[in-house]
Amino acid sequence: MIEAEKRVAAEAAATLVQDGMTVGLGTGTTVAQLLPALAARDLRGVRYVSTSPRTEAAARALGLAVEPFALPALDLAIDGADQVAPDGWLVKGGGGAHTRERLVAAAARRFVVIVSSDKPVEALRPPVPLELLAFGLESTLRRLPGARLREPAQPSPDGGLIADLHEPDGPLADPAALAAGLDATPGVVAHGLFPPSLVADVLIARGGEVEHRR
Ligand code: A5P
Repeated sequence: MIEAEKRVAAEAAATLVQDGMTVGLGTGTTVAQLLPALAARDLRGVRYVSTSPRTEAAARALGLAVEPFALPALDLAIDGADQVAPDGWLVKGGGGAHTRERLVAAAARRFVVIVSSDKPVEALRPPVPLELLAFGLESTLRRLPGARLREPAQPSPDGGLIADLHEPDGPLADPAALAAGLDATPGVVAHGLFPPSLVADVLIARGGEVEHRR
């Protein structure tokens, strides 16, 4: 059921891609359903950038033209999410790709999030994924009570280490304040709290239907 919904959301997003576009590809099981939907379309001249080696390999295997992310901007980016709040805040990074995902989303003129019906929540909750710089790691962790490195160790493709913030023990009362605090913490490369200002559309599959939040 959930896997089928991921495909439904992914197929809806694939229709947004037009010939000649530059498109950012996210990471995760929902994006894994997007790739064949894109490959099945007879699109010309689309240039893709990927947020992870995993997505890049899968996309290339399907014949999609993936290039290094060396473009100043992208027309569109499509990605999944772990949690979607009613006000549009997201938690991302369950797969540990949130640093690149944030860069690609920020470069996109339109960032589209695709999720199954289990992802919308009343309020965001921990864990909040982090990427931490390896240099000075112990001191960074000391500044972040409630943060724990993933085990086994999960290095990012950019040399950082993936961790998760497990506090507070309950809903995140103020995601914006938490995001600002994490942004201001030396050693935090990126976190998985994505603000509504980054997100143009959320496509939520429920059964065979797609709810479109703008
Ligand atoms: C990858 O690091 C994540 O941000 C994913 O986009 C997110 O975890 C959603 O993944 P699924 O599509 O597998 O649920």
